[in-house]
Amino acid sequence: MGEGANGREGDYGNDRDFFAPSPIRPVAHSFIIMKLIDYLNTRLGFTSRHGRVMNKPVPGWINYFYCFGGITFTLFLVQLLTGLVLSVHYTPSEAEAYRSIQRLHQAVPLGGLLRSTHHWAANLMVVMVVLHMLRVFITGSYKNPRELNWIAGAMLLMMTLAFGFTGYLLPWDQKAYWATVVGTNMLGSVPLAGQYLAAFIRGGTEVTGQTLLRFYSMHVLWFPLFTALFLWVHFHILRRIGISGGM
Ligand code: HEM
Repeated sequence: MGEGANGREGDYGNDRDFFAPSPIRPVAHSFIIMKLIDYLNTRLGFTSRHGRVMNKPVPGWINYFYCFGGITFTLFLVQLLTGLVLSVHYTPSEAEAYRSIQRLHQAVPLGGLLRSTHHWAANLMVVMVVLHMLRVFITGSYKNPRELNWIAGAMLLMMTLAFGFTGYLLPWDQKAYWATVVGTNMLGSVPLAGQYLAAFIRGGTEVTGQTLLRFYSMHVLWFPLFTALFLWVHFHILRRIGISGGM
């Protein structure tokens, strides 16, 4: 945030100050956004109410290796956004799923771009979460008192992979179908509980339309809900304890 002529943080002064040449001159749209935030803030008071969350300086020693968690979170938001729009065009039924994806490409403006963004952001999210985990491991940031945050993170890793596994079936093409047959068979080979678990997530002994509906439900309802919960725990602990020391 820039400093206005009168030296007050966040106050850009009059138009002359704003357009004056300055190395920290804000661009026009960020000026409008600041004004909008100011307008809402004087009426809703959200920065005073959530001040502890919103005013947290980042330690000076932070480097790029500490960005992987934030990038993973940003990608998750991209997935939420693109997923919401995709859900408008997708039909989770045996008869319609494949056709609805074809329609998305052929009849929906920018439908292909929307689907590709969801696909590539999902892949990138897996890469970023692994890099984030590696950073946490290498800096020893999982140790006391952050062990619970490591566990919350491990749940988030599971969620990220589970999103990928369930999302893969949704196009309902040959590749999706047989990948799910293989994946659920692998689960079935787990000692003792494997067969029950596989039958539970398939909704039967085979991969059918019932499996498609289950995977869709997990992908768009259950997993986003659990992810939001684990993210809250993850960030709450992060704020409570603070980030671990620099590398
Ligand atoms: C959706 C997945 C995840 C998201 C969005 C996420 C996000 C974040 C963010 C933004 C931070 C702040 C520091 C940083 O970015 O490096 C952080 C810290 C941390 N994360 Fe994650 N994380 C995820 C998954 C994981 C996983 C898989 C683990 C380990 C199993 C993990 C363990 C931790 C720990 C222990 C910290 C504290 C690090 C410290 O204090 O230096 N996270 N996470």
